[in-house]
Amino acid sequence: MKDAELVGVQQTLRPVLRAKALDNRLPEPILGDELAERAMRGLDPDYDRRAFGTSQLGLAAVVRAKAHDDWARAFLADHPDAVALHLGCGLDARPHRVDPPATVDWYDLDYPAIIELRQRFLPPREHCATIGSSVTDLAWLDRVPRDRPVLLIAEGLVPYLTESELRRLLTSVVEAFPSGQIQFDTVSVWAWHSSRWNPVLRKYKTQFHCGFTDPAALAEWHPRLAYVDETPMTDSPLLLARAPANVRRLYRFMNLLPGVKRSTRIVRFRF
Ligand SMILES: C[S@@+](CC[C@H](N)C(=O)[O-])C[C@H]1O[C@@H](n2cnc3c(N)ncnc32)[C@H](O)[C@@H]1O
Repeated sequence: MKDAELVGVQQTLRPVLRAKALDNRLPEPILGDELAERAMRGLDPDYDRRAFGTSQLGLAAVVRAKAHDDWARAFLADHPDAVALHLGCGLDARPHRVDPPATVDWYDLDYPAIIELRQRFLPPREHCATIGSSVTDLAWLDRVPRDRPVLLIAEGLVPYLTESELRRLLTSVVEAFPSGQIQFDTVSVWAWHSSRWNPVLRKYKTQFHCGFTDPAALAEWHPRLAYVDETPMTDSPLLLARAPANVRRLYRFMNLLPGVKRSTRIVRFRF
């Protein structure tokens, strides 16, 4: 399976999966995700032939994934009856890493072509189902139980939606469930606008479609939605501790520039 068989935005799963696979080969991995290596090898058997070690982008992707995992584990520990919606899941093995109790029903959602790859490269898990659909076609909501608390996780997805698609998604989920947590990462307006020159996104013929100066303000989209907090990203102690000196300097410099600072933010909401 080569890149050519993934189309447009679907290809963006590749660098993040590769980062998680390479992390697993470090003496002290951050995620320690063996299934990332298995899935990456399935996607591209030669993925590690050229460079070895996590890149700057790779380290940030791994730190971001860990932040989402930690929040998800905490929510599911308090809500063992929850329904988890893992949107834009790509080939990420999050349900295996988070290991929710058997009382949680977990749904991995991505385009049908990606779900087919998941079924080929990742092992099945009890109480974990897949949905092949665009996240913007909200008919998928009819396929999940909606009388329980929900955990919505969207890692690396939101910037590829337009603001109106995101608004429809969030407000529909709040309307559909009695309570829940919504966690996702978003980019700054600067990162959104400059994404058209991002070499990785250009290669994949895609770009970001939204970005926010103040993601907390998204809580205004629905009266029941409340912003909770944000976890550090470009200023994450883990990122700064594990980055090589030159990358650490780059992040410190970026963090001094308004607009560039916090170019990616991981935020959580409750309702
Ligand atoms: C950057 S990748 C992140 C994958 C995974 N969440 C991870 O962190 O490893 C973005 C993912 O979002 C998916 N995606 C983008 N737009 C989507 C949409 N409208 N509906 C469903 N999936 C979408 C892509 O197919 C891809 O798998």
